[in-house]
Amino acid sequence: MSSFTNYDDVSNSYDVYRRAGNMDLLISMTTHLTGKCLEEMSVLDAGCGTGNYALGLLDAGLGRITMMDGSDGMLTTARMKTANYQGIAEYRLARLPQLPFPDESFDVVMFNQVLHHLSDSSKPDGRYPVVRETLAETIRVLKKGGVIVIDTCSHDQVRHGYWFNDVLGITEQYMSLYPPLPLLRQVLSNGGCTTIQAYVQPDVVLMDYAMYSDVEGSLQASWRKADSCFSLSSQVQIKSFCQKIIKMKNENTLKAFFEECEQERLTFGQSTTIFARK
Ligand SMILES: C[S@@+](CC[C@H](N)C(=O)[O-])C[C@H]1O[C@@H](n2cnc3c(N)ncnc32)[C@H](O)[C@@H]1O
Repeated sequence: MSSFTNYDDVSNSYDVYRRAGNMDLLISMTTHLTGKCLEEMSVLDAGCGTGNYALGLLDAGLGRITMMDGSDGMLTTARMKTANYQGIAEYRLARLPQLPFPDESFDVVMFNQVLHHLSDSSKPDGRYPVVRETLAETIRVLKKGGVIVIDTCSHDQVRHGYWFNDVLGITEQYMSLYPPLPLLRQVLSNGGCTTIQAYVQPDVVLMDYAMYSDVEGSLQASWRKADSCFSLSSQVQIKSFCQKIIKMKNENTLKAFFEECEQERLTFGQSTTIFARK
């Protein structure tokens, strides 16, 4: 389970506001790096959530997928959405860093916005032991020539890619949960992976864009379920956030504020997708 977001609670509303935005990149890079077409590929979606990425791959013709998550609620939703598809190997309720699968089981293992949720990932020594253990497990369950996919945020992206993090005053705390990209590269490389490549698509937004751009909407608690930075925040931080939004609303500056933030997002993007080959 996430160390700070109750995903059983979030599972009822997650699909209202979250999107699987980088499917084209995911499909083109995994087929390219594995040398396999989707139909003959076996994928593990680790931290699959409600199955949005799995669904995208199945719709594109994926041969076989295993969906794993630590939240029963998220996995139940994923199951309901994909029940009628061929190619579902298994739904597995399990908690990272463990990957309860035999060695060399999968062509692709993907983590989409999962690593920052792993418990004690922000130990002061900056070593991210649970992330390291998770990646070691991943390399174990990947076939030779298989590909690991990690969609995560760089520290610059946490700072510049989301209009709400600074207003909330959560940037530094949230950033510390994300393992730095150089550390991920180093761990993958030390684990024997090659062809480590990272891509940023600045036009891709993790939330539904109409919702993301509705700054005033963030005054609603239901809107604030759309990003985990709000579940990490204290009541004091949330109260102060709402006061700042109301002030901008009263001063009629919300639109200008959002447009200024958008310039930064379009420079840095919101997430980075790393691909590495075993
Ligand atoms: C931000 S959601 C991403 C869901 C999905 N990958 C997506 O992009 O739509 C993070 C997911 O990671 C799962 N998760 C967090 N910590 C976990 C852990 N230790 N073991 C397994 N799943 C975990 C959560 O339950 C949640 O479904």
